[in-house]
Amino acid sequence: MRLLVVGSGGREHAIAWKLAQSPQVEKIFVAPGNAGTALEAKLKNIPITSIPDLVSFARQEKIDLTVVGPEVPLTDGIVDAFQASGLRIFGPTRNGARLEGSKSFAKAFMLNHGIPTAACETFDDAAAAHRYIDRHSLPVVIKADGLAAGKGVVVAQTADEAHAAVDAMLVDNKLGAAGAHILIEDCLEGEEASFIVLSDGKNVLPLATSQDHKRLRDNDEGPNTGGMGACSPAPIITSDLHDKIMQEIILPVIRGMAQQSQPYVGFLYAGLMISPQGEIRVLEFNCRLGDPETQTIMLRLKSDLFILLDHAVNGTLGRESIEWDEQVALCVIMAAQGYPDSPRKNDIIHGLDSVMATQSHSDEFHVFHAGTARSSTDPTKIVTS
Ligand code: AMP
Ligand code: GLY
Repeated sequence: MRLLVVGSGGREHAIAWKLAQSPQVEKIFVAPGNAGTALEAKLKNIPITSIPDLVSFARQEKIDLTVVGPEVPLTDGIVDAFQASGLRIFGPTRNGARLEGSKSFAKAFMLNHGIPTAACETFDDAAAAHRYIDRHSLPVVIKADGLAAGKGVVVAQTADEAHAAVDAMLVDNKLGAAGAHILIEDCLEGEEASFIVLSDGKNVLPLATSQDHKRLRDNDEGPNTGGMGACSPAPIITSDLHDKIMQEIILPVIRGMAQQSQPYVGFLYAGLMISPQGEIRVLEFNCRLGDPETQTIMLRLKSDLFILLDHAVNGTLGRESIEWDEQVALCVIMAAQGYPDSPRKNDIIHGLDSVMATQSHSDEFHVFHAGTARSSTDPTKIVTS
């Protein structure tokens, strides 16, 4: 089989690395990939990102299955475009991806299907939003409706912060169209966990649970980042909670999408808040795997990922099961100096050669790359980018 993986992060490196372990997979193109995917057996980077170019490439190269990592191509309709050209692709359609791409769509969907989440109101008028905040208790959460690359949520501790967030989105258009509609939401308390499933539109297989760590420094201090690490499983999700999450959240979403004639094929990620009393509320849905959660999930996955995704596209996941390594997996991010505000580019990353030599004899650990590149001045070196 010849596969195409779309994306360039640590998540896509981990997905492609796992797919390459399938005896059925002969070659995987990664578009555009990174300096780490360039080093893996069976993987080849190709510098393509636009959807029409990806469609042409998949046609030309007779790709058997395309797997999409990030949310942007999904919300842009890459799955619809591939399907319209008769190409097999794994992921939700543009409609399905609205669960992540439009927070107001996701809220309305949850309300319609009785899925527990924080109460909220939507606004596109700043004056009305300010009046609402004046009546609301603190803290309060301000969210851009659309995709904002992790910058669309402000958990405001003070009224000033909340008003400023409203102005940034609705008045100063700091987030562009993504922030032209906002949600103002009750602030939930508890511990967060990520619950991700694989669906063929009807059948659902839960993946191993996981939890990411967003603050820059130890002890949950410092600014939010794209994730400083992750662990799997998430200790907070007991087997009782697991059942409850499947019954109260995941299955209602999959059934609800199917009822709306929009069967959801793909990974579905529920970001959850678990209260000290064990109540579960949905913070967000993502229409894709998490990053860096995926890096830990792939290390624990013993089943053949290609076979699972192939069944998902065929609608035949019903008889499949997934086997997990019982061991815990941890992911620790080594970030560039200055991350997350102004990561420094072109610093040489030392020690990769020796670690790669060791990992080639071990299935206990793996280095996945994100934001790396070959040095333009010394091509034997990999640098931060
Ligand atoms: P989201 O993109 O909606 O997951 O928001 C990003 C992060 O903001 C979450 O992982 C939470 O840490 C926080 N967050 C979002 N919504 C809420 C909420 N209603 N209450 C408390 N924290 C929230
Ligand atoms: N790690 C959070 C996310 O992928 O959305």
